[in-house]
Amino acid sequence: MTDRLKFNSSFLPNTINNYVIVDSTEGLFLGEIFENKASRKNIFEMSVIADEKSNDYYELSIDTISLMAKDSDKFHLAGFKTLGLTDKVYLATDAAYKLFLNSLEFMGGDEEPLPPFATFINKSTAKVSLKASTLFNRHVMCVGATNSGKSTTALAILDKVISTKRKALIIDPTGEYRDAFSDEEITKLTLGVDTTINPGKVSMQQWEKLFETKSNSEGAVLAEAITSLRYMKKIGEDTFYAKVGEDIDEIQENLASVGRNDLDFNLNLLPEQIQAESVSEPDRDNNYNFKYRYDMLKANANNNLIQKIAYQMTNTRFLSFFSNDPSMYNLLDVIDEFLHTPDVSLYIDTSELGAAEGIGGMVIDLISSFVIGEDDIYPFVFFIDEVHRYAKSKYSEKEFHGGLTLLAREGRKKGIFLYLTTQNPKDVSPVLFGQIGTLLIHRLMLNDEIRAVESHLDDYAIKHVRKLNQGEVILSSVNLLHNMFIHVDKCDRIQHNMTPHL
Ligand SMILES: Nc1ncnc2c1ncn2[C@@H]1O[C@H](COP(=O)(O)OP(=O)(O)O)[C@@H](O)[C@H]1O
Ligand SMILES: [Mg+2]
Repeated sequence: MTDRLKFNSSFLPNTINNYVIVDSTEGLFLGEIFENKASRKNIFEMSVIADEKSNDYYELSIDTISLMAKDSDKFHLAGFKTLGLTDKVYLATDAAYKLFLNSLEFMGGDEEPLPPFATFINKSTAKVSLKASTLFNRHVMCVGATNSGKSTTALAILDKVISTKRKALIIDPTGEYRDAFSDEEITKLTLGVDTTINPGKVSMQQWEKLFETKSNSEGAVLAEAITSLRYMKKIGEDTFYAKVGEDIDEIQENLASVGRNDLDFNLNLLPEQIQAESVSEPDRDNNYNFKYRYDMLKANANNNLIQKIAYQMTNTRFLSFFSNDPSMYNLLDVIDEFLHTPDVSLYIDTSELGAAEGIGGMVIDLISSFVIGEDDIYPFVFFIDEVHRYAKSKYSEKEFHGGLTLLAREGRKKGIFLYLTTQNPKDVSPVLFGQIGTLLIHRLMLNDEIRAVESHLDDYAIKHVRKLNQGEVILSSVNLLHNMFIHVDKCDRIQHNMTPHL
C-alpha cells in the first residue's frame, strides 16, 4: 500500500477517500475507503516489510457507493445489495473512476449536456459537464461566505445557459453583471433608469412590503391613504385628499366609489396623504352632522411611516421607477414578452433603486406573482443573486418570500427553475429552502451556516466546507448518485466584483 510509483500522482493509497472496485456475485461495487487503521500502535514499525509478523494487519473500512450490475455498463445506487466476505478488492484506476463520474447523473435520459463549466477536484481532472435538468430541475441554491465565489460560479453557469440559447431571467441587486452580456444576447433593463412600472399594478400587500409597515394599523393607514389618492386621480385632482373638517358620510361615499379599475395614483403625494389620514370621528351628538377632526394621537402614530416613505422618496430613481412614464420600458410588459418568446433572456439590474430591503423584496414578489400567473410560457432559469437581501424584513413579521415560495412550489410544472444565491441559507424561509433539490456549496465559515446545509452532506464533506478555496464547490443534488467536488472555471465575461484595496 505504500508503493505509490505504480499509480498516478493524484492517487495516495495510504490515505483515505480512495476508491476501490469490489468483484462480487452481484456485480462490481465501487467503494470509497473512509477509514484506514493498522493493528500496531506505532505504524512506523510496520513500514519495513521484512519485519511484518503474521498477526499484523491493516484495517480498511469501505463504504459502498454504487454498483454496476452484471448486465449493465453504468453504475447505479447500491440499494440493499452488499459485499461478501471473500469478495476480491482492487484499487480503482482512474478509468474506473471516470466511468463512475459518467454515471453520476441519473436524470434527463439522452438530453444534451451543458458545456463544461468546472473540473473535478479529487482524483480526476476531468471536465464537469452536466445536463441542464440535473442542475436545475429541482431548483438550485448556491451558498457560501462573501467572496467565496458564488457570483463567479453563477456567471460561469449562466454563460453556458445563455450561450446554448436556453432562457434565463437574471435579477442582479448589485449591478455586477451589467457588462457581462452583450445587448444582442440579452435584453437589459435598469429599474428606475430606463424601466418603470404602473403603480396600479402593485398590490396592497406589496406596498406594505415596500414600505415595511410595522403593524396592522400602519398597513391600514397605508391602504386608506392609497385609496384616497386613487380617488383623487380618478376625479382628476392632482393634490392629496384633505379630510379635516370634511363631512364623514361624503368622504366614505367618495372612497367607496373607487372601483377595481381605478388603480393609478400619484405616489409623490403619499407622505402628505398619510398625514391627512390623521383624523377621527367626533363624539356623536344630536346634530347628525359629523365632520372629521384632527387626531393628535394618530398623527404621532403615523409619523414613523411618513418618515420611512419620505426617506425612500429621496432616491430619485425610486420615484422614476413608479412614474409610469410612457417613454420608458414598462417592466411587466417586457417580462410578458420575455415569457412568450423562445431563446431569449432578460437581465434586470435593480441596483439603482437603493439598498433598502423593502424595494428589492417587493420587486421580486411582483415579478414572481406575475410569472406564476402566466400560462404557456417557455421554460427558463430564474436567477436571483443574493436572495438574502429580499429576506424577512428586520421591521416586520411579514415574509418577503410569499411570491418566491409559491414559485418554488408550483413553478416547476410551468418550467420555471429557480437559481438562488445566498450567504446564509437560514435567511430564506424554511419552506423555500425545503423545495431546493440541488445545492452548490462554497466555503462556509460559521457553525450555524454549516448546520443549515448539514443534511445535504456526509462527514467528509462537512469537514471540508471550511477549507474550500475560492471557486471550489461541493455539488450536492437529489439528481446525483454522489456529491461532486468541483472547481468552477471562471468564465471570461466582464464581472464587476473586485474588492477595492485599502
Ligand atoms: N472559480 C474561480 N476561479 C478564479 N477566481 C475566482 C473563482 N471564483 C471566485 N473567484 C474570485 O474570488 C473573488 C470573489 O468572487 P465572487 O464571485 O464575487 O464571490 P461572492 O459572490 O461569493 O461574494 C473574485 O475576485 C473572483 O475573481
Ligand atoms: Mg456575489
